[in-house]
Formats: sequence, structure tokens, C-alpha cells
Amino acid sequence: MARLPPVRWWRDAVVYQVYVRSFSDSDDDGVGDLDGIRSRLGYLELLGVDALWLTPFYRSPMADHGYDVADPRDIDPVFGDLAAFDALVEEAHRHGIRVTIDLVPNHTSSEHGWFRAAVESAPGSPERARYHFMPGRGPDGAEPPNNWQSVFGGPAWTRVPDGEWYLHIFAAEQPDLNWTNPEVWADLEKTLRFWCDRGVDGFRIDVAHGMSKPDGLPDDDRTDAARELLADHDGDPRFDHEDVHDVHRMIRAVLDHYPGRMAVGEVWVRDSERFARYVRPDELHLGFNFRLLQTGFDAAAVREAIEHSLESVAGVGACPTWTLSNHDVSRPVTRYGGGALGTARARAMALVTLALPGVVYVYNGEELGLPDVELPDWALQDPVWERSGRTERGRDGCRVPIPWEGEGPGFGFTSGEPWLPMPAEWSALTAATQLEDPESTLSLFRRALELRHDHPGFRGSGIEWFGAPPGCLAFRRSGSTLVCALNTSDTPVPLPPGDVLLTSGPLLDDGRLPPDTAAWLA
Ligand code: NOJ
Repeated sequence: MARLPPVRWWRDAVVYQVYVRSFSDSDDDGVGDLDGIRSRLGYLELLGVDALWLTPFYRSPMADHGYDVADPRDIDPVFGDLAAFDALVEEAHRHGIRVTIDLVPNHTSSEHGWFRAAVESAPGSPERARYHFMPGRGPDGAEPPNNWQSVFGGPAWTRVPDGEWYLHIFAAEQPDLNWTNPEVWADLEKTLRFWCDRGVDGFRIDVAHGMSKPDGLPDDDRTDAARELLADHDGDPRFDHEDVHDVHRMIRAVLDHYPGRMAVGEVWVRDSERFARYVRPDELHLGFNFRLLQTGFDAAAVREAIEHSLESVAGVGACPTWTLSNHDVSRPVTRYGGGALGTARARAMALVTLALPGVVYVYNGEELGLPDVELPDWALQDPVWERSGRTERGRDGCRVPIPWEGEGPGFGFTSGEPWLPMPAEWSALTAATQLEDPESTLSLFRRALELRHDHPGFRGSGIEWFGAPPGCLAFRRSGSTLVCALNTSDTPVPLPPGDVLLTSGPLLDDGRLPPDTAAWLA
């Protein structure tokens, strides 16, 4: 039964990201849905996760698979309805699992009532003032108002028939809201309350470093070389504008009226001090630090990323938020080299991450060791593919549905045709197969989550580094007993002292830690 008392439950939680479209399909249309998630709660409880993050399930024309929201307070019929949502939250809570959902405040869908009204209204009207509409440059206004590029490729501006242009940092179907307009604020507040009143436990804030834009929308005057060199969006006028922190203060003020609710920001800001501003005591509770995810399988770089993440949050008293994977990036198995090597490394990095203090996000399928899928051109659906002139394949490869059991085409995900094709060889990676195998990646995650939850060694809130051979790292949870060691070198190394609790792969007969392996000791 429910074990949901602590109010700041997220501080050491393992949160499981459900990419709703790809998780479990209850009505066999090939697309995952809310009832499908509900049918898998037993699995999620067995896995041992504390909470879910559901990607957007709101009414949407799906130009960016739900990150183009036409109504933030209703469910798209492809995913179910409000009754299905309520049933999911209620049953998840009975399984002891909290439910957090995605909010998309930077932009709406071009099918949102506000945007349709804006296009039908005259330049200068209040309807247009909810978005960024502007006249173009050049003698007949035929050039975009500034030189900003869309994150998905091409200009960040699209022209409407009367000659004005509107801003979209992502796809043309995702017009950016104007966050100087009080109606925009009021609407987000209404949405927050709507879902809090329905019992959600928190929110993931999409593009949390977006929303506010500099006055007058000046050109991006960085050189191309600087744009290439600058990590993430540092120095980019489209992001991390000072006024965005007022939006987060508003979000926090609303959530403070609902005990036990949290917000985690998608913050692509690399600089420690600027990042920390998003998780100050009156702003978001958590912010994803993406450095670890951007780091290769190299002990020195992994250590540097961990240190940076800890340092970013320490000064403001926030708690670190770790992730190796999500629906926007290549899966760890593929990133770390693919095949058996990539799998071994992804398993090792999972143990490193799960040994750290703070929150850990696990992306659905990561616990099965799924790799990216190389999809044929005809299957690609990510708007990045078309907007880049078919030069960037986009993110579909990490979004292929979850193989639950049996054989293709649907592997228990659907009895219909999955919305992205699932590879035949995934019959070896299904959840059902892996549940039976004590050496599987799923069994490793189950054991790791169980230890993280129950073993007293995981209590300390900081870490202490040990000296380690070249290409290796070792740390201990401070004030506690858990030690984690990682070998990214190409030679076996002796383990630090202690009893082995868990390893990501077999140790050598003489007890040494082989390459591409991590161990937990206490
Ligand atoms: C970040 C989301 O994770 C991504 O999937 C989406 O395309 C963009 N924000 C735009 O909403």
C-alpha cells in the first residue's frame, strides 16, 4: 500500500521518465497511452522507482509529439481522457509511486485557441500580444525581424499572410509565448493549479531557461565559430534571460501552497553560477544538470562532471539531479560505443549515477539496456528531420517503443503497428526475458534501486573522493559507508577495501575490477 508521507520526497528519489507515446499501448493504435501506463504499474513497482515523469499528453496536433500543446488542461484522445488520468494517478499512488507531469510554458501549438485568434486578428491587437509578432526587415518586410535560428533548424520566424512574422524557437508549429503579457502568467498559474488539484506530485518544466526574451529581440551577434564553441546556450540571446527567474518564482509560489509538490527544470545552462540561479530557495526545487550526460566514458571527465554538478547546487542549498538519458539524446548504450561494450559501460555508469546523493532520473528502456535504433528514412517523424533539410536524423532513434515480451512487430507494446518500427533482435531485450535472467540489465537496475532504497550506506548527502589508478575513480558517500568504484581504463585494477554489494559486470577470478565495470562496496 501507499508509502507516500515525506513532504520533500524528491530529494533522494529515483524518477522514471515515461515517454508516453512509446511506453505501453492499451488500445492497439500503435501509440502508448495513459491506460497502458496504468497496466504497467506493477512492473514499475517491481523495478523500485519512486515517481514517474510523464511527457506531455495534452491536446496536441503532435508536430513535436506533444511538446506543441493546443490545450494544457485537457488530454489528447490518442492518450486517453481526464478520467484515465485520474485513474492513473490514483492507482500509481496506491502502488507507492508519485506522478509528475511535463509543462511547456515557452510555447504553445499553432493550433492553440490563442494562436489561431492571433493569426485571425490584426497586427497590434491584444490577441497578437500573447506571442511575439513583429514586422519584418528590409524594404517590404520580407526578411525576418532578427537573425535567430530555430533549435530544430532554419529561421526562428515564420510569416503570416498579412506580412507580420512570429517567433518560434522550435518548430513553426510551436509559437513562443510573450512572457511580458500578464495573461500568459495567469494561464500558467491556472494550469499549475488545475493539475495540482487533480493530485499530481510535481512538474518538469520544459525549456526552463527559455520563456523570457531580451527587450527588442536583438540579433544574435555571436560569430558562427563562437556558436559552435560555446557549450549549450551560454551567451545565446534566445535563452537564460534574467527575467525568466520571475516566472520560476511564480511557479514556486503556487507550488508552495500544495505541500509535497515539486518542479524540476530542463535547464541547458552550463555555467555553474548561472545554473544555480534556477534552483535558488524561491525558484525551482530541482534542475537537470546535463553535464554527465554529455560526458564520454572517461573517469577524469566523469569526475569533473560530478564535481561540477555538486558544486552548482551546493551554494544555494539545492539537491543535485542526475540523468544519463532522455527522449532528446542518444541512449547511453549507443553513446558509449554500442554493442556489448556500450552495454557494459552503460551498466557501469548506471551504478555510478545511482550511488550519488540526490535525485536520479531513469529514462524508460534505460533499465533494459536498449540502444538507439537506426531507423529508415520513411519512418522518421521528428520535426528535426524535415527542418534540417533532411541532414539531421533527429531523436526518433531513442524513442522506439518499449519491448515488453515475445516477438515483433509489437513485442507486447501493442497488438497493432508500433508508431516507430521495433527491431526484430529486441526479442532478446524484452522486459519479460530480462526479468527471468539474474544477469540482465533489468535485474541489475532492480537490485541497485533496492540497495539505494534500503541500504544504510546510501544516506550521506555529499561524497569524498579516493585516490584511484589512472582511468579510474572511487568515491564514498560522506558520513556513510557506500563506496563506488569505476574502471574506464583498459587494464584490471584492485578494488578499494570493503564488501562487494553489487557490480555492473563480473569481477575477475582474482577479485580485480575489469575495464568498463563499476562496483559498489560497503
Ligand atoms: C525540450 C523537450 O524535451 C523536447 O523534446 C522538445 O522538442 C523541446 N523542449 C521543445 O518543447
